[in-house]
Amino acid sequence: MPIEIKQLSHTYLPGSQLAYPALCDISLTIEDGEFLGIIGHTGSGKSTLIQHLNGLLLPTDGSVLVDGLDTREKKLRKRIRSLVGMVFQYPEYQLFEETVARDVAFGPKNMGLDEAEIKVRVNEALVLVGLDPAEFSEKSPFELSGGEKRRAALAGILAMRPKYLVLDEPMAGLDPRGRREILALIESPGAISARASSWCRTPWTMWLCLPTASPCSTKARFSWWTNPKQFFHTAQS
Ligand SMILES: Nc1ncnc2c1ncn2[C@@H]1O[C@H](COP(=O)(O)OP(=O)(O)OP(=O)(O)O)[C@@H](O)[C@H]1O
Ligand SMILES: [Mg+2]
Repeated sequence: MPIEIKQLSHTYLPGSQLAYPALCDISLTIEDGEFLGIIGHTGSGKSTLIQHLNGLLLPTDGSVLVDGLDTREKKLRKRIRSLVGMVFQYPEYQLFEETVARDVAFGPKNMGLDEAEIKVRVNEALVLVGLDPAEFSEKSPFELSGGEKRRAALAGILAMRPKYLVLDEPMAGLDPRGRREILALIESPGAISARASSWCRTPWTMWLCLPTASPCSTKARFSWWTNPKQFFHTAQS
């Protein structure tokens, strides 16, 4: 089942003098197992768009359907949020527990899972992001390097076993090593979802937001779609 965005528009503070149209008439369908990158200038609406995928923001016009579930329906939102794992920009700012394991366990706990299942999920998620549970579980999140913190934050999302993984500028603010570590995780969604095969039946459907200096997106509208080969060809020419 796909994610379908149909003629989506979003205006911040509608009806006020400060009303700001951040998205205008966006339509797009993403099928299971697809890897989608959204690139655009700062302020072009990338974060606004992806926050519609789990109903954090609701359409001013149009609709967003996740596996056929309409985000505007309040009673479906919990289900939608369990399908869509959202890693916000600088997710490490949201680490707050005393140990890495407790932080990663936060989401599964809120899902009402029992202790044994939570433990399985925490270990599984730490392994998936390349943090050895024996070494990292009992560390304070604040002792970790920037890249490790970000991987711990990602583990907290993976521990909820989402079907869709949405990452907002996952490499922002990291040093080259941290960027390489995150890139190694996400550049091959097939590899990470194969390791997560206990709950991923298809390769991961992944959304990735990246900033860009190239003129491929204008404010609030998609300028063009392309495949990676064509994009890099265009960017070079
Ligand atoms: N809560 C808000 N209230 C009013 N306007 C907002 C709000 N959040 C974002 N905007 C505006 O909407 C536009 C799109 O913002 P958004 O954060 O989606 O851009 P972005 O492409 O993610 O930018 P960046 O690359 O800097 O993260 C911007 O002009 C921004 O100022
Ligand atoms: Mg953003």
